[in-house]
Amino acid sequence: MKQLRKKLLAPSILAGDFSNLEKEIKAVEEAGADIIHLDVMDGRYVPNITIGPPVIESIRKVTKLPFDAHLMIVEPEKYVDDFIKAGVNMISFHMDATIHSHRLVEHLKSNGIITGIAVNPATPINTLEEIIHYIDYVLIMSVNPGFSGQKFIPQVLRKIPKLKKLMEETGRTDIIIEIDGGINKDNIREISEMGVDIFVAGSSIFGAPDKKEAVKLLKERINTVMV
Ligand code: DX5
Ligand code: ZN
Repeated sequence: MKQLRKKLLAPSILAGDFSNLEKEIKAVEEAGADIIHLDVMDGRYVPNITIGPPVIESIRKVTKLPFDAHLMIVEPEKYVDDFIKAGVNMISFHMDATIHSHRLVEHLKSNGIITGIAVNPATPINTLEEIIHYIDYVLIMSVNPGFSGQKFIPQVLRKIPKLKKLMEETGRTDIIIEIDGGINKDNIREISEMGVDIFVAGSSIFGAPDKKEAVKLLKERINTVMV
């Protein structure tokens, strides 16, 4: 198998046991997880509330894995510095949650943050046309943001070739493509074959009878494809 780009698995702790996040994180880390995905929700951008900087700061101490904060909050610019201080390495936000996306991207980049734009299922790829020059990754939502355990929306896969085309046209073939929502052992290989780089998985890992086995199986499946 020829592997041109490294593919990474990012368990989302939203589906984990919040009474023992240390144990959850260590289990997936030991099994080979590459990134910890943190779903931040404010009850305004999405109909759910989750964790913020204090929790992230606490769990920062239990692992060396990179933290990927997916901000599903309105006016993320007001809070990003708190997330940076808490120790996150990657931040994605939704462009319809802020007025000045370019200013926010520049701010994140100048703070050394790997910066991404998250795209909802009904948001077209062409909304990235002007921001793509400045970012590091695109997070394609394959469920509506708000909850873990939702059903994968297969139509979103149509966006991947569109994004790849935009990447070619803009000379940004280095953009990292992340997918988030409803990823499981049955669909992950097909998605990997389409050229996705980072796979977020919540319930298919933390809801599995054996999370370590689940991590291993998902990693094996993303890596046994030709890209
Ligand atoms: C949804 C979140 C996802 C979610 C993934 O708003 O962005 O990261 O937690 O969970 P699963 O894999 O269960 O869909
Ligand atoms: Zn997420």
